[in-house]
Amino acid sequence: MNDSPFPIPDAARPRHIAIIMDGNGRWAKARHRPRSLGHRAGARAANLCIDACLDAGIPALTLFAFSRENWQRPDEEVGALMQLFLRALDREVDELNRRGVRLRFIGERDAFSPDIRERMARGEALTLRNTRLHLTIAADYSGRWDLVQAARTLARQVAGGSLSPEAIDEARLGAALALSDLPEPDLFIRSGGDMRISNFLLWQVAYCELYFTDTLWPDFDATELRRALDAFAQRERRFGRTSEQLAMEASP
Ligand code: FPP
Repeated sequence: MNDSPFPIPDAARPRHIAIIMDGNGRWAKARHRPRSLGHRAGARAANLCIDACLDAGIPALTLFAFSRENWQRPDEEVGALMQLFLRALDREVDELNRRGVRLRFIGERDAFSPDIRERMARGEALTLRNTRLHLTIAADYSGRWDLVQAARTLARQVAGGSLSPEAIDEARLGAALALSDLPEPDLFIRSGGDMRISNFLLWQVAYCELYFTDTLWPDFDATELRRALDAFAQRERRFGRTSEQLAMEASP
């Protein structure tokens, strides 16, 4: 247990939560408002969620903000999202830094405008030494892209003679992926009612507990996070073993 305003026993606390923040568009549509308004409300919910993770002592949070497939959305929506990212970076980075958050981005950066890329780099540099919460924003990211870039990294090493094909194992491939320096996500949350992974962290969720909620992302708050954490605390994580084996290991 810790003395946070959001106490949870240490054993029941995920070391890393990954979230697909889905439902912004439907939230806006239900209010007869443009989708961009839903994304703005979604950014506020993301802030609440970061606060709740800080309160709960969660060490790592990864948010899927923009997939590689999202570039196919209407120009107007993509433009609004880019404006939102720019404003969020301008407004939030100093505050995140003040709260001890380390900010990082995973994904292909080249397609973002220079002003967004510059602010991403500034945010990462400013918060580099913070350790209270590792916040990763996946932007122009997809799980398959991640696997491809890892395969390229290893292929280059093989071609350069520093790695033999036989030496490639799960650890070596895992180390070439994004987030390799963090514990694998324990809890994967998707809001918005759909039950799919949508090309998010494909490799990293191998043993992750999946939690789906119908709540649309703009309505996701500390209470919703608490529900997900409560559900996580009820799960038996066997990692391929049996319940009996786990019970034997737990008994002194
Ligand atoms: C999916 O909802 C959400 C997105 C594609 C964008 C996510 C972006 C944010 C939550 C705001 C920015 C976040 C940060 C961290 C600055 P959807 O549009 O697919 O919703 P729908 O399924 O209801 O249409």
